[in-house]
Amino acid sequence: MSNNPQDWPEPIIRVQSVSESCVDGIPGRYIKPPSDRPSTGTGFTLGDDANIPIIDLGGTEHDPVARASKYREILQACTEWGFFQIVNHGVDPDLMDKARETWRQFFHLPMELKQQHANSPKTYEGYGSRLGIEKGAILDWSDYYFLHYLPLSLKDHNKWPAQPPSCREVFDEYGRELVKLCGRLMKILSLNLGLEEDLLQNAFGGEDIGTCLRVNFYPKCPRPELTLGLSSHSDPGGMTLLLPDDQVPGLQVRKCNNWITVKPATHAFIVNIGDQIQVLSNAIYKSVEHRVIVNSDKERVSLALFYNPKSNIPIEPMKELVTQERPALYPPMTFDEYRLYIRLKGPRGKSQVESLKSPR
Ligand code: OGA
Ligand code: NI
Repeated sequence: MSNNPQDWPEPIIRVQSVSESCVDGIPGRYIKPPSDRPSTGTGFTLGDDANIPIIDLGGTEHDPVARASKYREILQACTEWGFFQIVNHGVDPDLMDKARETWRQFFHLPMELKQQHANSPKTYEGYGSRLGIEKGAILDWSDYYFLHYLPLSLKDHNKWPAQPPSCREVFDEYGRELVKLCGRLMKILSLNLGLEEDLLQNAFGGEDIGTCLRVNFYPKCPRPELTLGLSSHSDPGGMTLLLPDDQVPGLQVRKCNNWITVKPATHAFIVNIGDQIQVLSNAIYKSVEHRVIVNSDKERVSLALFYNPKSNIPIEPMKELVTQERPALYPPMTFDEYRLYIRLKGPRGKSQVESLKSPR
């Protein structure tokens, strides 16, 4: 049985078209209530130099001491921030630039070509402009493209863009490299939980994991103080590798009631823990809220690769991490069931994973 909705509740308007047609105002559909707007931070303002941890993954192969200290940094990042950047991660910087710039070219194609890939909420694959199907919802200032890499049964080149000509090849290679890197990070995350290196991957379903890509396109916005490029949310999946725009910041991460604007390091990936790893780790690792702000001068492109558990197996706290002192915080649920929530309701902070917590 599938509860997946079949269609959008109202006609889709591309934010890119709205951006091109409005000069100093934005339509009411994109205006957030005052409490959600970018400048309304609670608490004190952190200095502009605040940033998420940056971890250098290079040079650990033959140096066990350096390795141990880097793994400790990753542990701390996963428990305290839910976010970190990695550099010297082994993915070719040229491939990273090529992937991002090829996607940028896609978003600059004529609208008729992009519309051929228009998506529906049934699978979300293709060119989209909203998340959630609530009629009349206030929308985010972004368009996106969503596609599957894994499992191979869901990978469908016909649902990928046909243009620019090199894109399918570039995106294939990008996906392959990032899946490898995720596999490497999963081992570190598993070891850091005091478990054998393969246990976390096994809990994801071993080889049968899911991987998808969401490319975000944030057009220029004449009133950035009134809206958000992407509303506050935690990622529902396992782990995310984000390739941010190299020119334009925008991602903000929640830390102690403040929003920290991430300053991307050159050719870094931003790694974050998703809800499924929070659940599997019994909340030792944190899936942290984040959002995106937009600006009036520059568009922004980012690539979020989601590394997810096999979608039809129950995900619950790993038995090695459940003790009498620390009982299981979450009941089992498959990722297929779990992701329906964001697909129906759109991004809503951490409300979903919080609501899962078993009452006690
Ligand atoms: C996402 C996301 C952040 C960004 O796609 O889930 O959080 O910087 N993107 O675009
Ligand atoms: Ni996200």
